[in-house]
Amino acid sequence: MDGRVLRTVCGNFATGVTVITTGGPDDFTGTTVNSFTSVSLDPPLVLFCLHQRSRLHPVLRESGGFVVNFLTGRQEPLARAFAGRDAGEARNVPHHRSPEGLPVLSEALAFLVCRLIGNYDGGDHAILLGEVLDLGVPGHDENPLIFYRGSMRVLEDEPANT
Ligand SMILES: Cc1cc2nc3c(=O)[nH]c(=O)nc-3n(C[C@H](O)[C@H](O)[C@H](O)COP(=O)(O)O)c2cc1C
Repeated sequence: MDGRVLRTVCGNFATGVTVITTGGPDDFTGTTVNSFTSVSLDPPLVLFCLHQRSRLHPVLRESGGFVVNFLTGRQEPLARAFAGRDAGEARNVPHHRSPEGLPVLSEALAFLVCRLIGNYDGGDHAILLGEVLDLGVPGHDENPLIFYRGSMRVLEDEPANT
């Protein structure tokens, strides 16, 4: 199996774009992720896949939690900044702390604050399972940023059933 072909074929599956943030009381970091999915409503569970060499792993272990921030169509520069190895510029992004002390991007479309409850082997990625503790939709009037065929785009179309 050629990984590039697999990635190209999977690129036909349109997804949203998230930034996973995590950190302790005095620091915060994040990375851009499109492998988010909701898993269970009762209990409330979500997952994302993180490559095994991500610098986020030790921070996740230490903090014991993460925030899934869904990006708006205006946040493509932020998605690019958090996808670089040096997310230094991204540190200046407006954010606040959840009641659990985890960093939430204040201008996200929506966010889920999660406790890390599982870390499973997924080949060159880890499958990270989180229990949702808190949530919100600060950007409820905004269009989402989507990832499709290797490009980020803004979803502006009307629903298909109207
Ligand atoms: C649209 C988009 C989606 C991405 N999705 C994922 C993902 O689901 N899992 C992942 O490990 N990396 C994903 N990446 C790559 C990481 O953002 C990037 O490799 C990472 O920030 C660099 O290494 P780090 O994890 O140490 O920060 C994605 C990048 C982009 C631009």
